[in-house]
This record gives sequence, structure tokens and C-alpha cells, in this order.
Amino acid sequence: MEYCSMKSVILITTVIFSTQAAVEEIVYGQVGGSVVLQKREKSQLSNRARTTWSFRSTSGEDKNVYSYNPMGVPATGSWIKDRVSVSNTGLSLTINRLTPEDFSVFECEIHDKSKTEKTIYKLYKITVTAYPYVLLATQTLSLTCDVQKSAAKTSVVWTSPQGTNITSSKNPTVKNVSVQHHGVWNCIVDYQGRQTEAKATVSVAVVDFSPSLPQLIYTSLSSTSPLLLPCSLHSRLESSHLSGFIPQSGHWSFTPFSADRAQEGTRAPQQFLSLSQGTPLRWLDNQVNQSALGEGPTYRNFSIVKNIGEEGGIYTCTLEFKGGVKLSWSVRVEVLRVESSHVNPVQEGLAVNITCTLGRPIPSNLEVKWTIPRHSSKILSSSLSSWILSHPRVQKKDEGKWQCELSKGTKVLTRAYMMLKTERAPVNVWLWVSISGAVIVLVLIPILIVIFVRRHKQNLMFRRRRRRTKYCRCKHPQVKGFYKS
Ligand SMILES: *[C@@H]1O[C@H](CO)[C@@H](O)[C@H](O)[C@H]1NC(C)=O
Ligand SMILES: *[C@@H]1O[C@H](CO)[C@@H](O)[C@H](O)[C@H]1NC(C)=O
Ligand SMILES: *[C@@H]1O[C@H](CO)[C@@H](O)[C@H](O)[C@H]1NC(C)=O
Ligand SMILES: *[C@@H]1O[C@H](CO)[C@@H](O)[C@H](O)[C@H]1NC(C)=O
Ligand SMILES: *[C@@H]1O[C@H](CO)[C@@H](O)[C@H](O)[C@H]1NC(C)=O
Repeated sequence: MEYCSMKSVILITTVIFSTQAAVEEIVYGQVGGSVVLQKREKSQLSNRARTTWSFRSTSGEDKNVYSYNPMGVPATGSWIKDRVSVSNTGLSLTINRLTPEDFSVFECEIHDKSKTEKTIYKLYKITVTAYPYVLLATQTLSLTCDVQKSAAKTSVVWTSPQGTNITSSKNPTVKNVSVQHHGVWNCIVDYQGRQTEAKATVSVAVVDFSPSLPQLIYTSLSSTSPLLLPCSLHSRLESSHLSGFIPQSGHWSFTPFSADRAQEGTRAPQQFLSLSQGTPLRWLDNQVNQSALGEGPTYRNFSIVKNIGEEGGIYTCTLEFKGGVKLSWSVRVEVLRVESSHVNPVQEGLAVNITCTLGRPIPSNLEVKWTIPRHSSKILSSSLSSWILSHPRVQKKDEGKWQCELSKGTKVLTRAYMMLKTERAPVNVWLWVSISGAVIVLVLIPILIVIFVRRHKQNLMFRRRRRRTKYCRCKHPQVKGFYKS
């Protein structure tokens, strides 16, 4: 019996409580943000229920926010009219663009069938700051999430613009920022021990290169157009972010590749362009003005267009900002070429190696595909995917375009080619040599015969004369006509 009466007492008190005492809610928001004030359990209200939302400022002043009466026209307080939106016949209220004065008390009173339900929404402030809110890549970002103290127990999680949970610290620092830290950071506040959370946001701008800049470019010695060497800041940076970040100096430099990949980048870089002073900014090449890098006053594209020739290597764009912070972007340029073991024109009949090369060892994930003159002989189709084509005997019909295509998977990276020319000159020379030889022999033989015949005749005459002089015994034959008297 006693137990029963006890239960009814509790019941009565509960009823009194729900009709008279106000339910208190804690709501967190951010200046400039918005909050939703919502009766959580959808109470079963009659269609005669009246709803009144009011605001009590920190100084104790009461203002009407919104009132709903089924008999009349809903009324919104003119002071908040443009910032409030109502749904569910006034049971839910969203207040946008919160001002610092809003962080006080909102009250909701529902009168239905002589019953009054009152809910008090206490608005608390979350203040987030990012310092500095515009910074250069490699610098350190400091974030703070200041949660105003309330009766609720709060906890904080920071999420980065990529949406990953960074830390549960209220004041984290992020070292060595990059483009991936550019964007909106969220401080998510959990409170009331329930799944109630409020989000406060802060925007951070990181001056960094575009994440889509290539790190490796394949080009070809056969390409005649100059190459775009990209160096541009990412496109989500606004002019207002960049106005304080104009490079004070800068340069483009080149480091040739060494034949050994392991030694890459160890050679001394050579500067070939430097950034001008004054506006508009431009790259200077031995004091010769290049075209301006835009109109100014902000600059984001520092790309250049350059004839690479066979200068494969690492091209680096370096920008130096105030405070000595340097940002640099390096792109490796590989130059494909087709080389022949013999210079053009190649003598027909010779063995020739035609090589597709980057001038240094080629990574194993790259493939080559040759396109050779249609009538070319002696090249096995199976060898059209090897780096060196060995031609045992070059012929006239091998003349033409020998093209190699460099690809990675299905993607064609670049193409290079050489025009093979042949010549028959050496054959003709030998032919001429033999013909002239034959002519010479033909001319020489009669001459030799004539000489031989005349020598023979002379010998005969000499012998006859000797026989005659046998009878002459004078010791000193006198030459006639020597003495003139
Ligand atoms: C990030 O933190 C929130 C709140 O603590 C949690 O709900 C969410 O699952 C977390 N996400 C990840 C990816 O850890
Ligand atoms: C900074 O981060 C970049 C990648 O974003 C990394 O390449 C570089 O080594 C880092 N520098 C330092 C000093 O940690
Ligand atoms: C380069 O341009 C600047 C102005 O932008 C000018 O003052 C300077 O004389 C120019 N120099 C040459 C070498 O043309
Ligand atoms: C930068 O400028 C070059 C021309 O110098 C242009 O080809 C390129 O598209 C520009 N890049 C961006 C991201 O605007
Ligand atoms: C062609 O290359 C092979 C090796 O692949 C070599 O043995 C041969 O001597 C080369 N021939 C010429 C003409 O360079």
C-alpha cells in the first residue's frame, strides 16, 4: 500500500514538473554560423497549439523571435526576420549568421489545451582561429578552438580540409603545411554526453604549387615545338590571398642528368633565368626581358616555354618570398631520341644498329614500339619491341622514317624518329676503280709491246755494229768534228 501511494506521488510530481519547469538545452554555435533550435521529441499537439519563441539578451531584454497562432498570422521579430527560418509549424527554428549578441538565451513556449511547455535554449560560443590564415607551404599553422564553458561536458576534434581527423587537441599546430592543408578546417565539438555536435569552421589559405603539376615529362628530340615547363600556384588561391605573397626573387635552374640514375641530381645546377624586380614580374634571361608573368599585382603562373633540345635533366623553379621562405618545384625532363650506329647516309650493305634511347638506362616499366619503313627487310617483327634494332644489311628500301614510341602501359609518353638515308657511293667507286684499272691495263699493254719490240730491234742492231768494229784497232778513236782547225 505504501509503495502504491509513493508511485502516485512521483507521477504527480512528474506531471507538475513537465507542465511548470522549463527544460534546458545547451546549444553551441559560432559567430557567423548557424544553429538549429528544435524540440527534440515531437510532442503530440492539437491544432490549436500556440508557439512563441523569444530571446532574452545578456542584459535581460526580451524580444519576440517568432510566434505562431492557428487563429492569426505568424509573426517574426523584425530584428531577426532576415536571419531566421522556421519549419514544422514553428517547432524548429534555424538562426543563421549568428552575431555575438545572439549568444544568450532563446525560449520556446508551447500552449496547448491549458498545458504549457517551456524549453530554454542556452547558446554558447565556439571561437576558432587559424594563425596565420594565409601562409606559405612549409610554414607552421596554429589552430585554436575555444569552447565557451557550459554545464555540459565538451570534447573537441579537429578535421582537416581533406576530412581526416587530425587531433583531439583544442589548439593543434600543423607543421610543414602544403596545398592539402588549404581549405576549411572544422572544429567539431561534442557535448551533453550525447551525439550532439556543433561544427565551427575556419578557412586557411596555403600558398603552394598546384598539386597537378607534373614531376616527370617525356619529350623527344624529334619534337620541334618548345616544351612547357610548368610552375604555377594552385588555382584555389584567390587574388586576395596572393596580394601579400609576391615573390621577391626567383630563378629557374637546370641540373643535367648523369648517365647513372643513382647519381641523379648530384650535379651542380645552372641558373638560366632569374626573376625581375618591379612590376610586372618577368623572367630575365641574361638581362633580356621575357614576356611578363601576367598583369599583376598578383602572380600565380611562373611557367616557361623552352627549347629543350637534347638537354634532359632536372628543371627547377624556385620562388623566394619575404621572410626567406623558398618554394621550389622540380620537373624531370627525359628526352627520347633515335640513334644510328652509322651517320646518314649509310652505305648500303653495312650492318647498322638503330637504338631508341633516353641517353641513360631506361626504367623497366617502360615499353617501346617501333614503326619502320614498310618495305624494310631483315627486321623481325618480334624485335619491334626491343630498344635496339640490329639490321644486318641496310638496303635502299630501308630508307625512311624509323620511329620509336615510348609508352607506359597503354599511355603513349612520347615518340622520336630518325630519317634513314642510304647511299651506293662505295660500290660506284670500286666500279670506277676497276674500269679505270681495265682502261689503264688496255692502254699499257700496247705501249709495253711497242717498247719491247723496239728494245729487241735495237739489241739486234747493236750486235751487228759490234761485229763491224772488230777490225778497228785504234786505241783512241777521235771524235770527228771535235777539232776545228
Ligand atoms: C573523426 O572523429 C569523429 C568525432 O570524434 C568520429 O565520429 C569519426 O568517426 C572520426 N573519423 C575518423 C575517420 O576517424
Ligand atoms: C614537408 O612536406 C613535404 C610534402 O608535403 C615533404 O616532401 C618535405 O620533405 C617536408 N619537409 C619537412 C622539413 O618535413
Ligand atoms: C626590361 O623591362 C623593364 C620594364 O619592365 C625595363 O625597364 C628594362 O629596361 C627592360 N630591359 C631590357 C634589357 O629590355
Ligand atoms: C601558365 O602559362 C603558360 C604559358 O606561359 C600556359 O601555357 C599555362 O597553361 C598556364 N598555366 C596555368 C595553370 O594557367
Ligand atoms: C650492334 O649491337 C650489337 C649488340 O646489340 C653489337 O654486338 C654489334 O657490334 C652492334 N653493331 C654495330 C654495327 O654497332
